[in-house]
Amino acid sequence: MTTIHLPGLVDAHVHLREPGYEHKEDFGSGTAAALAGGVTMVLDMPNTQPPTATADLLLDKARLAAAKAVCDVGLFVGATNTHADAYLPVAQRACGLKVYVSDTFGSLRIDTLELMHRFFRSWAELAGEVGYRMDGHAHGIGPIAVHAEELMLPVCLSLSHLYSVPLHVVHVSRRSEIELIRRAKQRDVPVTCEVTPHHLFLSTDDLGRLGALGDMRPRLASADDVAALWENLDVVDVFATDHAPHTLDEKQSVAPPPGVPGVQTMLPLLLTAVHAGRLTVDDIVLRCVHQPRRIYGLPAQPATHVEVDVDARDVLRNEQMKTRVGWTPFAGMEVIGKVVRVVLRGQVVYEGDQVLAAAGSGRVLFQEG
Ligand code: DOR
Ligand code: ZN
Repeated sequence: MTTIHLPGLVDAHVHLREPGYEHKEDFGSGTAAALAGGVTMVLDMPNTQPPTATADLLLDKARLAAAKAVCDVGLFVGATNTHADAYLPVAQRACGLKVYVSDTFGSLRIDTLELMHRFFRSWAELAGEVGYRMDGHAHGIGPIAVHAEELMLPVCLSLSHLYSVPLHVVHVSRRSEIELIRRAKQRDVPVTCEVTPHHLFLSTDDLGRLGALGDMRPRLASADDVAALWENLDVVDVFATDHAPHTLDEKQSVAPPPGVPGVQTMLPLLLTAVHAGRLTVDDIVLRCVHQPRRIYGLPAQPATHVEVDVDARDVLRNEQMKTRVGWTPFAGMEVIGKVVRVVLRGQVVYEGDQVLAAAGSGRVLFQEG
């Protein structure tokens, strides 16, 4: 047995579903799944019910998270067609502004270029006053994070360039997209991007086997797209899961919602890739700790680490999953590398497959002031 210590991981893209969809997940179950995956900080997306689009709703969500979370949580505000400026008073309490311009689960989706101008203009003006957290400003704001697939990607890149607003492109899945982001970076567009484990380890070839359990947005891509993500890893700033739980009943219904859980399985999958010689441990730490911290201006977590047995072999099973929905699209897959213990701020919070942290011991980021 070879045990290594890693810093607590950040998962910069999770859907913890509270409020409104607690039958799928809540801050307690979702952050428990995070700890079991060696993740000690998560950034939660705004497509809840109601969506996190106003100041009051962000503050309500912060209270819910503070009461239940067992790891640290940052909260996104979301851009809406109907309440376009309502998030502005709490922009500094959010980890960033999430803008959906491609189809997803829930109602958040921006339809017009006019509104896109407004979001980028407002964000740039606010940054002029308070700065970007990534530049070390204590009370600054984060980036605009976009779900922008296919032809919507160049629209967002050009707005980022024209307004000089840092843009973080979530869950990039296609060759055309990662190659465009490479060119944009070469031209000094202030863009960063993330890739999910499911887009790295699954492709359309798995759809026959997975059925609706392999349906998410962006959809699984071709084997060539997957190869492109691996070939362009130097352009990939962040690995993040898009942990998007839906119940098995919902996934097996006539109109299954898109999305798959992932926060607990990311580290074992990435460690398996290390074992196979496709990644290094440093590649993981860079993309799951240092880069998310830099891009979102996240605080370091003192006296926090994850102990991993890098030789332990395991077959992923639904029954191991701490997410309320109790399944994983990776069930049956052999992984090499197991989270043995997690220490957060000096406390053992996970050991022997058990979450030991008290509800509410996780912190909600950026709420002071
Ligand atoms: O598949 C997805 N499901 N993609 C997203 O971007 C959102 C997510 C969800 O919230 O279920
Ligand atoms: Zn998402």
